[in-house]
Amino acid sequence: MCCSERKGKLKKGLIIAIDGPSAAGKSTLGKLLAREYNYTYIDTGAMYRALAWKAMQLHISEDDENSLVNLLRQSDIALKNVQKDGELEIIILWNGEDLTPFIRTPEVSMAASKISALPQVRITMVELQRIIVGQGAVVMDGRDIGSFVFPNADKKFFLDASVEERSRRRFKELKEKGMQVEYNEVLDDLKKRDKNDTTRSLAPLIKTDDAIVIDSTNKEINDILSSMKTEIGGFNKKK
Ligand code: DC
Repeated sequence: MCCSERKGKLKKGLIIAIDGPSAAGKSTLGKLLAREYNYTYIDTGAMYRALAWKAMQLHISEDDENSLVNLLRQSDIALKNVQKDGELEIIILWNGEDLTPFIRTPEVSMAASKISALPQVRITMVELQRIIVGQGAVVMDGRDIGSFVFPNADKKFFLDASVEERSRRRFKELKEKGMQVEYNEVLDDLKKRDKNDTTRSLAPLIKTDDAIVIDSTNKEINDILSSMKTEIGGFNKKK
């Protein structure tokens, strides 16, 4: 598809897809890129996390696909980009309620990984993601953005890092939030989530042939950011 047109609509900006396993640096780099280009950053993992958290609150089982889909269809999910202390923060609203403080626990991470493997949940969530993106000008991070949600994305990145490095990062992040966790638990959790994410039947995490693969192990964020910017190349930033 031509870069200036998508589904018959005039496109207002690029769709930049960032896929990869948990804790590979997708959200850090996604937010930085979005700020750089004045784009909207869409954290699709937060959408699965919000559904998982809501389902937990409502005692809906992780494998009750129909109830999860109904819950999703009856709800209004919105992602807001907010500038705070010079950084981009993502707020996730569920029927107007701010769920941001609740969705980053290890329990929600695991539940999100499980429910996201249910085909009808994913199909419903992907419909919503495509609507949210509208005419582009987005940096979207997830597992299936370049392979399934937007196979015609203008730029596709696949961010990777060793599971040990990713576990160290996640462990540090959780500790900084004051959570009681052990490194080995975090490592086991990430291995389980990697397995769920790469082996599910619909839209598993894969590297597409046209994705630019970046291994973030032992690399500085700023170096990765500048190589992503070089790959994206020059175009008119959104005003
Ligand atoms: O990126 P994250 O860790 O916040 O994502 C939480 C879970 O949601 C992850 O284990 C897999 C799932 N997910 C997905 O299946 N597809 C996406 N596009 C984004 C996340």
